[in-house]
Amino acid sequence: MSTQSLYPVSPELAGSAKINDEQYKKMYQESIVNPEGFWREHGQRISWFKDFSKIRKVSFDDHNLYIKWFYDGTLNASYNCLDRHLEQRGDQTAILWEGDDASDQRTLTYRELHAEVCKFANALRSQGVRRGDVVTIYMPMVPEAAIAMLACARIGAVHSVIFGGFSPDSIASRINDGRSKVVITADEGIRGGRIIPLKDNIDMALQHPDVTTVEKVIMFKRTGNDAVNYESGRDIWWHDLISVASEHCEAREMNAEDPLFILYTSGSTGQPKGVLHTTGGYMVYAAMTHEYVFDYRDNEVYWCTADVGWITGHTYMVYGPLANGATVLMHEGVPNYPSPARLPEMIDRHKVNILYTAPTLIRALMAQGKEHFNDMDGSSLRIMGSVGEPINPEAWRWYHEVVGKEQCPIVDTWWQTETGGCLITPLPGATDLKPGSASRPFFGVQPALVDNMGNLIEGAGEGNLVMLDSWPGQMRSVYGDHDRFVLTYFKTFRGMYFTGDGAKRDEDGYYWITGRVDDVINVSGHRLGTAEIESALVAHESVAEAAVVGYPHDIKGQGIYAYVTLNQGIEQTEELRQQLRHWVRSEIGALASPDLVQWAPGLPKTRSGKIMRRFLRKIAADEVSALGDASTLADPSVLDDLIGTRLNRA
Ligand code: PRX
Repeated sequence: MSTQSLYPVSPELAGSAKINDEQYKKMYQESIVNPEGFWREHGQRISWFKDFSKIRKVSFDDHNLYIKWFYDGTLNASYNCLDRHLEQRGDQTAILWEGDDASDQRTLTYRELHAEVCKFANALRSQGVRRGDVVTIYMPMVPEAAIAMLACARIGAVHSVIFGGFSPDSIASRINDGRSKVVITADEGIRGGRIIPLKDNIDMALQHPDVTTVEKVIMFKRTGNDAVNYESGRDIWWHDLISVASEHCEAREMNAEDPLFILYTSGSTGQPKGVLHTTGGYMVYAAMTHEYVFDYRDNEVYWCTADVGWITGHTYMVYGPLANGATVLMHEGVPNYPSPARLPEMIDRHKVNILYTAPTLIRALMAQGKEHFNDMDGSSLRIMGSVGEPINPEAWRWYHEVVGKEQCPIVDTWWQTETGGCLITPLPGATDLKPGSASRPFFGVQPALVDNMGNLIEGAGEGNLVMLDSWPGQMRSVYGDHDRFVLTYFKTFRGMYFTGDGAKRDEDGYYWITGRVDDVINVSGHRLGTAEIESALVAHESVAEAAVVGYPHDIKGQGIYAYVTLNQGIEQTEELRQQLRHWVRSEIGALASPDLVQWAPGLPKTRSGKIMRRFLRKIAADEVSALGDASTLADPSVLDDLIGTRLNRA
């Protein structure tokens, strides 16, 4: 290992952090050798109504798969985030909210948050929501988003949060899959100075002929725009509902394995799948990882910049930090609006101790120049995190130097919607850092690398990243389609959970995630299936065929590159190109809109008709000098044509 690229744990943190290297090694060893004993102890970090006696029941056998944790215990997630703190920290701020416009500020203490959640839980009940019902939440970043989630959890309903950037069609398919009767939204959202027509999007989604289950739409008034549609009989104002609701609502006793939420995520095939998380194991894992990964200490201000519509917003903005009684800073807008100085200003204004953000933001800030950080005090900041995509060492160093003033360790946390919480991550007081490496596994996590045949790779090497055993935060199923769960994650490599990522392991046992090895791309930390974008493109009347790949993008990590074959007689115009970009935006959402659209009279296919994507990836990346063996192509000449008209050139 080159020492130049090593950032050792500071002696101060090694002495004061919750876990130092010696403890990490000891606890990790114990978690693998004696998982029952280890999790019996750590399962106690949350409050149980009825304590568990069973720790785990796990089989990764694809013919007989089951995953259960703490499965005879009972608890409630909202109780764990609220009620149990009231005595000790009822008057402590739970949510510190800053609007898109910085003059909008709100705080909610634990006592106030508890009261709001109880009222809204009663309101949901009054609208017929029962235990096990799926409730769709399509909200801006306001405290009511967290209140809605916790209210569902309180009464045993299962929330399904949809990111505010998704289009009406995407909302419709998610509502439909979850068969939601109730949708919670806001009139409009505000983000980076722009209005997001949330209610209009919901209205459009509900007009979709497939969507037949929705009876009620609860609307939070955020902007108060009178022009927003209100359909009497179906729509109800949030404030009207809670004005008559009681502040008392007993938290429902749930089994550890009862569903807590569904969150849709993209895979390499088909429509996004509803990742199902259950209550006990998820809560234990969320609380424990939040405490150890961020070395979280009582009374600290913790800021996670993720949107509540993603798993990071679930685990590390709501459930983990609130279970630990943290003060959570929630921001309605984007941290570099109206200028890059917003991030340092917010850190200083709220005396943020822990910051958790994404590489794409760091790269965007980097591009705008470090002078925006000149006036930053930054002395409150202690720990910084990164999540969502590989962080390039250059961005890592900039983050460390400019944002953290060389005083804060960076925890580069690798995990997925499916994993519920961090699996491979440094711990601030234990792990010497290497920029670009997510480093070592968390307690109880057993990563391994396998070659394409499924053979384990020992020592330093590179391969497909798998997990050999379960951890409490693991997803339990794909909602409504358990076979798809088994097929997606447990069939590629028998007896192992396949992550879909590739990774390298160095001689120190550190993992370096190299990115997805399947047809999933990661755009600004947002996960998209190329198949979804392709099916949106071919649904356009002018398109005969489309192939989508990712290509390296300076800010977004990956950009979206679409090769499009038009129907006979359709002219290749700039206007059509723009139209197709807009089309995908309206079919899926702005995040899926292709950056580059290349006209492709033909696509490189094998004789049996399979598209050879590796050629397309190379052309999109402008790596055309070594395309590799093209002899299996039905018509190798299509490559020359695509190379000649490629759009991403140095
Ligand atoms: O490819 C990995 C990448 O993001 C994928 C998971 O995406 P999603 O389910 O949307 O969850 C994102 C937030 C947890 C992974 O398969 N990824 C996530 N974190 C990292 C990462 N790649 C490299 N380094 C990371 N720290």
